[in-house]
Amino acid sequence: MSVSSAMSHLPLFETAKDIATHFEPSAEIVLYHGDASELISTLPDDFVKLIVTSPPYNLGKVYESRIPIEEYLETQAQTIAELVRVLRPDGSICWQVGNFVKDGEVYPLDIHYYPIFKSLGLFLRNRIIWHFGHGLHASKRFSGRYETILWFTKSEDYTFNLDAVRVPSKYPGKRHYKGPNKGKPSGNPKGKNPSDVWEGLVKEWEEGFWNIPNVKSNHPEKTIHPCQFPVELVERCILALTCEEDWVFDPYAGVGSALIAAIKHNRRAMGSEKECVYVDIARERIVSYFNGTLRLRPMGKPVYQPTGSEKVSQIPPEWENATQRRLLEKKEEYE
Ligand SMILES: C[S@@+](CC[C@H](N)C(=O)[O-])C[C@H]1O[C@@H](n2cnc3c(N)ncnc32)[C@H](O)[C@@H]1O
Repeated sequence: MSVSSAMSHLPLFETAKDIATHFEPSAEIVLYHGDASELISTLPDDFVKLIVTSPPYNLGKVYESRIPIEEYLETQAQTIAELVRVLRPDGSICWQVGNFVKDGEVYPLDIHYYPIFKSLGLFLRNRIIWHFGHGLHASKRFSGRYETILWFTKSEDYTFNLDAVRVPSKYPGKRHYKGPNKGKPSGNPKGKNPSDVWEGLVKEWEEGFWNIPNVKSNHPEKTIHPCQFPVELVERCILALTCEEDWVFDPYAGVGSALIAAIKHNRRAMGSEKECVYVDIARERIVSYFNGTLRLRPMGKPVYQPTGSEKVSQIPPEWENATQRRLLEKKEEYE
């Protein structure tokens, strides 16, 4: 993509704007290197339209040291209170988390976070399940294949642009079969509501879900960061919950995926990140977005569906006898 075509639908960013390193009211992109709370303390009240983030999970990733969960949540509660201060009254927070696992026991982080947001007077609009097809294989419990996004609003009066994120309906030809609209199409010509389950399987794409695989090694957006947002996951939140030129803020910005999603859709973008190496990558990614060289997975692209002929889809020859035997046993059970 050429620079000019990247720019053509971005009136806010007619030229690649400067990336400010601190907040200033005239900035359009802010990338702060340091602790999130330092940047937040410089922001005005009621200012940001969308806070979308995946906080440090306390899982002992390279960028974090593991602390007791109570201590972790207490620190997070202080930051969240500050984030609520800077959120606009019609704004939203999307808090994306998975599980904290200690000694083999699972602590679902969204359940621990929920009371923090409620105590600050926020309203939960959806607990979105982001289901993906790949991840670690567990041996003492079922393998985890989803994370959640808690979507809270600051008030009852909030932006929700459903039309911007509708997906194709499975049966667009359905009609009302009774009542005053009998015979008229019952769906919406713009598509259907994508629901609160965001899928990563091609079958669901065919059925109208929006597929968002997680960022693993073969994903075009993969960097050295161990748990990046897929840009398209944030794009859906931005399109639905903000309007053009609004401020989108990721306090735990990592390699800047949320900032890129915001810029792509003509929103102002702000992020803070404590690790210098990720800040540098985030800056490079933003610059390459403006140069038209950033590799992004197109929004809504169906996930690759194996045809069955690939080597990895076939049963290894050394398992064939065992598989045949298991199938015969199943058949006998059935008969
Ligand atoms: C789960 S990752 C987020 C990744 C991000 N969504 C992306 O797409 O790259 C959390 C990030 O928060 C950063 N972080 C942790 N504590 C922080 C703090 N107090 N202030 C700013 N950044 C912090 C970590 O270095 C890490 O990159």
